[in-house]
Amino acid sequence: MKDFDKKHILHPYASSTPSADMELVKSANGVYLELENGEKIIDGMSSWWSVIHGYNVPELNEAATKQLCKMSHVMFGGLTHESAIKLAKTLLKITDESLEHIFFSDSGSVSVEVALKMAFQYWNSQGSRKKTKILAFSKGYHGDTFGAMSVCDPVTGMHSAFEGILHKNIFVNEPKCNFNEPWDEKYIEDFKTKLRDNHKKIAAVILEPVVQGAGGMRIYSPMFVKRVRELCDEYDVLLILDEIATGFGRTGKLFAYEYADIVPDILCLGKALTGGYLSLAATLTSKKVMNGIESNGHILMHGPTFMANPLACAVANASLELLLNSSWKERISSIEKQLNKELRECEELSIVKEVRVLGAIGIVELNVDVDLAWMTPEFIKQGIWVRPFLNLVYIMPPYIINKDELNKLTSVIFNVIKKFQAKKA
Ligand SMILES: Cc1ncc(COP(=O)(O)O)c(C=O)c1O
Repeated sequence: MKDFDKKHILHPYASSTPSADMELVKSANGVYLELENGEKIIDGMSSWWSVIHGYNVPELNEAATKQLCKMSHVMFGGLTHESAIKLAKTLLKITDESLEHIFFSDSGSVSVEVALKMAFQYWNSQGSRKKTKILAFSKGYHGDTFGAMSVCDPVTGMHSAFEGILHKNIFVNEPKCNFNEPWDEKYIEDFKTKLRDNHKKIAAVILEPVVQGAGGMRIYSPMFVKRVRELCDEYDVLLILDEIATGFGRTGKLFAYEYADIVPDILCLGKALTGGYLSLAATLTSKKVMNGIESNGHILMHGPTFMANPLACAVANASLELLLNSSWKERISSIEKQLNKELRECEELSIVKEVRVLGAIGIVELNVDVDLAWMTPEFIKQGIWVRPFLNLVYIMPPYIINKDELNKLTSVIFNVIKKFQAKKA
């Protein structure tokens, strides 16, 4: 099987002739992935932020099975179904009351495409045809489709691979004020200047609130988000918040925008929405934005085949029920405390630049880029699954992880980085 995989199957951001073998996962349960040889390793990645309740969750299995026997899919054009309606009700209830409309799509990237379309159509429908740009941030990441790529970090993102093809947007420096740092207006100067000078061309600002994920794993001050909101209002520009990674409790709040006590005009959700079972995302927006889009007889122009897939919606309902009825806040806070204590020990290693922690997210930034081909087998040998990139070793474990399992994650990370440091010396 692995030979066939290596020869024919493409994996994320990977060569078609990879030098290393893929690990084959046979099954997964709780926080453990079971490999081909029967070895069980702790998943520190929650399958890229999504598996918040762990794997093979009885409640989610049951919801999927029940829905499967009723109807696994039905088109959403001209038809609707109970699972989508229930899910929409819950999402609108747990987000700000100003968000009244919801568009379901099949992945985070597509939910960003929908958000961008909403913003552009909002202005177009009202006759403001000059608003053709999005203001985005360095070190941001919003997905791999074309619109999403065009608002990802212009250096570490994929702009160079698609030079001349991607829509050209306007970029500002990444937020530099740390989470608990006292606020200083100097941190927002670059944003303020670019917004002031270009607002007539800008349809919306797009931002990952409080935590920039795959573009650099940076945690920053909620005050920055607050000031962005105020300036968007001042210059009449929409604000899109991408909470695809941060949503559903990961940062210690149900949604990271709550730290800033603000509300976006458009909100993107995905990843943990189905507890990592199925691909589903949502773009939420306000009455004001919908009314704007629909001025002069227009309608929002999007409609994927698998929109609001009933199976995915049913599992999302079960996942949200499980999350909202759990003591998720206490769990995240206890994970945060343990990460602060144990992961911070990495700071004693000279190869480590900084350790950052927020909620159930722990990041070790090194002074040098990691060697993925060397590190991955080391992590697996010591019983954990971590997937570093650039100079970042980071974890965002399932919320159900216990103290011993988390301790295993942090201590193996320490050991492997220490070994890496010795190898580099
Ligand atoms: C903040 C953010 N936005 C968008 C995406 C894209 O989501 P997807 O991979 O489901 O298309 C991701 C994925 O990592 C993300 O972290």
